[in-house]
Amino acid sequence: MDSLPLFLPCAGQVEPLLGDEVRRITGLAGEAVRVLRGGVQLPAARWQHVLQLNLHSRIAQRVLVELAQAPYRSEDDLYALAAGVDWAAWFTPAQTIKVEVTAQKSPLKSLNFAALRIKDGVADQFRERCGQRPSVDTQRPDVRIHLHLQAEQATLYLDTSGEPLFKRGWREDKGDAPLKETLAAAMIAATGWDPHGEQPQSLYDPCCGSGTIVIEAAQIACRIAPGLRRRFGFERLLPHQPALWQQLKAEARAAEQSAPVGIFGSDIAHRMVDFARRNAERAGVAQVLQLRGGDALQRQPPVATPGVMLLNPPYGERIAAAGQAGHNLAERRQLGFTAREFTDGGDGGEFFAQLASHWKTCYGGWTAWMLTPDLKLPGKLRLKETRRVPMWNGPIECRLFRFDLTARGPASPRQQGD
Ligand SMILES: C[S@@+](CC[C@H](N)C(=O)[O-])C[C@H]1O[C@@H](n2cnc3c(N)ncnc32)[C@H](O)[C@@H]1O
Repeated sequence: MDSLPLFLPCAGQVEPLLGDEVRRITGLAGEAVRVLRGGVQLPAARWQHVLQLNLHSRIAQRVLVELAQAPYRSEDDLYALAAGVDWAAWFTPAQTIKVEVTAQKSPLKSLNFAALRIKDGVADQFRERCGQRPSVDTQRPDVRIHLHLQAEQATLYLDTSGEPLFKRGWREDKGDAPLKETLAAAMIAATGWDPHGEQPQSLYDPCCGSGTIVIEAAQIACRIAPGLRRRFGFERLLPHQPALWQQLKAEARAAEQSAPVGIFGSDIAHRMVDFARRNAERAGVAQVLQLRGGDALQRQPPVATPGVMLLNPPYGERIAAAGQAGHNLAERRQLGFTAREFTDGGDGGEFFAQLASHWKTCYGGWTAWMLTPDLKLPGKLRLKETRRVPMWNGPIECRLFRFDLTARGPASPRQQGD
């Protein structure tokens, strides 16, 4: 377990941020950490790195061990690929398995059949060696095997994470469109917000929903490791070293501290604020976060010193639904939406014009970062962005826009965006 090739997939366009994070967590540098399309590769990591990365990475989706790679043309080639791996080094036939397949430009017709052939390769090897074969469990497998198919290359991975890493173990209450925790963490990293820097700034999400961004930020501020509240796939693998794992968790707990800055969230839907509160309790940051109900178009800054706003604002259907919501007005009121949300014309134009006006009046000196698939957002805000960072939210291409807010005042009638 001294020279393991690892691959950590992540959301599109955030690979360099994950590369920085991996270097920070492992202490590895140079060619030991390669930033590739779709993720970060560690060509020769140690088992301890597997544990550290699962425990501390906020941006990676999984930590995979690369087991085999070869050119392929047919399902039989995949069977041969699986047959060449020494599975008994990783798990026993008494354990259950699941094979998951991802593909890009694969010539194969059925990915299900590809998964079946990998499963056959694993099962036949165990049966030949010890007369027993692992069975499949698609719901709660002990061991997850990933097959990634490109046009000509097939790669087999063993998943050391189990449940994907965005599942931190604290979310039970979610809103309609919660961000994945891993993407929220990538957004925070992209802003450069550093609560432990020389001049730490407060962070505020005025459309916080179930609290994903602010809970991530609060854990970062308190140095709470994201993986402390969940179990991992590697705990069921044969190389698992429980003493080492306990030691790493103890070290992580010992590093926790109180937050050096204020972190604030608010949302117009009180139901969402309740969700965020309960999530924050489970995430161990209820004391750090200040959560309130309220309309982003009216809320005053939560602190006197300007800080950073970070949000994924309501988008598209959500606002359209609210704007045209005569028919389901009663239902939405029951959910805790107030009249303000129903005034928008459908594309968010009026909402964002009012939001920018409010920010110019009350949030001079703040920096606002907004993640949206709406490339017209700066136009709707009538603000010129100072940065635009491409980022994929699953299959949806987004931008993280940065706006430096300057105060509106009588001395500057022709301000940016007016
Ligand atoms: C895309 S969701 C944000 C999801 C959130 N990041 C999460 O992970 O749960 C947008 C949020 O904006 C809220 N919202 C809509 N109109 C608002 C307004 N006028 N003021 C404050 N929040 C608003 C909605 O209630 C919703 O929770």
